[in-house]
Amino acid sequence: MAKSGQHGGNTRQMAEKYGLNAEDLLDFSANINPLGMPQTLRDAIIDQMSCVERYPDIDYQQLHQAIARHHWPQQNTSPESYENYIVAGNGATELIFQWVQQTRPQRALIVEPTFAEYRRALTRYSCDIEAFMLREEEGFEVTERLLDALHDGLDCLFLCTPNNPTGLMPETTLLQRLLQRTAELNINLFVDESFIDFIPENPGLTAALRDFPNLFLLRSMTKFYAIPGLRLGYLLSSNQQVLTPLRDIREPWTINAFAALGGEILFEDHAYAKQTYRWLKAEQHALYQGLSQLPALTVYPPTANYIFFRLNQPDLDLQDALMHHKILIRHCANYPGLSARHYRVAIKSHQDNQQLLQALGEIFSHAA
Ligand SMILES: Cc1ncc(COP(=O)(O)O)c(C=O)c1O
Repeated sequence: MAKSGQHGGNTRQMAEKYGLNAEDLLDFSANINPLGMPQTLRDAIIDQMSCVERYPDIDYQQLHQAIARHHWPQQNTSPESYENYIVAGNGATELIFQWVQQTRPQRALIVEPTFAEYRRALTRYSCDIEAFMLREEEGFEVTERLLDALHDGLDCLFLCTPNNPTGLMPETTLLQRLLQRTAELNINLFVDESFIDFIPENPGLTAALRDFPNLFLLRSMTKFYAIPGLRLGYLLSSNQQVLTPLRDIREPWTINAFAALGGEILFEDHAYAKQTYRWLKAEQHALYQGLSQLPALTVYPPTANYIFFRLNQPDLDLQDALMHHKILIRHCANYPGLSARHYRVAIKSHQDNQQLLQALGEIFSHAA
């Protein structure tokens, strides 16, 4: 099991530590859409409750078709079927482990600091890991240095776009060059786009899948659609040499019937997506501005639904200070390359964000 401190959202453990009720905590540590689960899904689950009395389709055909329609809406007129580009999973996390199990890389490069599960999966299968460290003096941006770090002894590169926890998105031209270079060097490029739905103007690398069989794209539905407890993600690739055996070795029915139902209907919920973009556009800007006005913080510009910052007061434990305001934020001390002075906060509702800003204002006025 992953250690509880490795991810956000550990409200139970943190509440216990401070003698609080988990329900009373305002959780800024997990990056989940504050609009909550779409009403369309809630209604569909209630309506179709009895689907738990049957096994789900072992191939999840309708789910895969829905994902294909979403990414390749032109498929009805195109002779090529994209369904075989897709493997859905019980959350994106399951697919990270299954992909590593299937491809068995001997040597991997991870762009750090990043989501911890790539390293855990690679370690489970005894892969040697090199870390490409993003640098604070480069604003944690992915730069051309990454191209220079590639070599033909690598089997794969793990890159998260936008990156968690730094929130930054590499330039599209750099990603194209990475694709070219990894293909030339025969390196599998595993790109985690779990938060990219929060950037409506950025389609990610889906269009490159057909030409680059070394590309594997990971998507999660748990953040954008606020269903982390339901578990649903998918992997996209044109590489049938990897996807076919990966499908064959998996345990059957790991996606529960409600999650599969969610995948079948959620892409059609355009009203929910629109409402999410409207909320995010306003609140991303407002929270970023609010945090940036605090002299104690160096705030990195967000692209998705969370904001990363550094605290410039070395003797203050900001997570602890905020817990006294019943607010939980994610400290980033356990990420390689970061320290106890780095933090990440989710962007939540206007009211919650204001509460966070007010609590921070109070903490800094006392600390000054
Ligand atoms: C970058 C990134 N990828 C994948 C995941 C896992 O998502 P899922 O809930 O679909 O397993 C997370 C969860 O925090 C994440 O931050």
